[in-house]
Amino acid sequence: MSAASPRKRVAALISGRGSNMLSLMAAARQADYPAEIALVFSNKPDAPGLETAKDAGIATAALFHKDFASREDFERAMQDILLAHKIDLVCLAGFMRLLTPWFVEQWTGRMINIHPAILPSYKGLHTHARALADGVKLHGATVHFVVPEMDAGAIIAQAAVPVLDGDTPETLGARVLIQEHVLYPLALKLVASGAAKIIDGKVLTGETANGETLVVPSPSLQGA
Ligand code: GRF
Repeated sequence: MSAASPRKRVAALISGRGSNMLSLMAAARQADYPAEIALVFSNKPDAPGLETAKDAGIATAALFHKDFASREDFERAMQDILLAHKIDLVCLAGFMRLLTPWFVEQWTGRMINIHPAILPSYKGLHTHARALADGVKLHGATVHFVVPEMDAGAIIAQAAVPVLDGDTPETLGARVLIQEHVLYPLALKLVASGAAKIIDGKVLTGETANGETLVVPSPSLQGA
């Protein structure tokens, strides 16, 4: 990166194992990647991903949400930490707290999330079980900008995997997760580099990135 375009400082917000956080950390080790993971924050002080981040030498912070009287109190304390670390972009990576409109508005156009389904299908929880119950043949993951309505913001990039006979929520979820780890670094790159722009509520990525926003791995790479 040139001095004119410093790497964006990213906070990964997690609540659990943090495998997507790890995929972002791995991508950010490349010298030409336009973002660095400057902070890993969790609402669960015992989240396994915090230890992983610490071991990699990344700054971590945790606030247990139940220690706060209200959702907004928790978020204001979290916001203070993000500002103290001079964060430019927030990546939700398995952060299992609904965010208030106030917090979302602090990060309009600067906060993204990964959701384990091809939005706008299967918003919310238990996406793999619901996809199996419906008998769909295509499933996957989406990275999108965060807006106050859950899982509803402009879509940046998506990955698709097949649903196979005999799949369980676990086998299907594992197949999707492999592609999440490809998708999230790609989407963050588009946002951090400025290639992804929201125009009329939709994300356009420009000629250089056009076509990169769909991850469809070959069957031999699907872990099927
Ligand atoms: C992923 O499936 C992600 O799509 C969802 O939460 C899960 C987090 O997994 N938002 P991990 O903590 O990144 O391993």
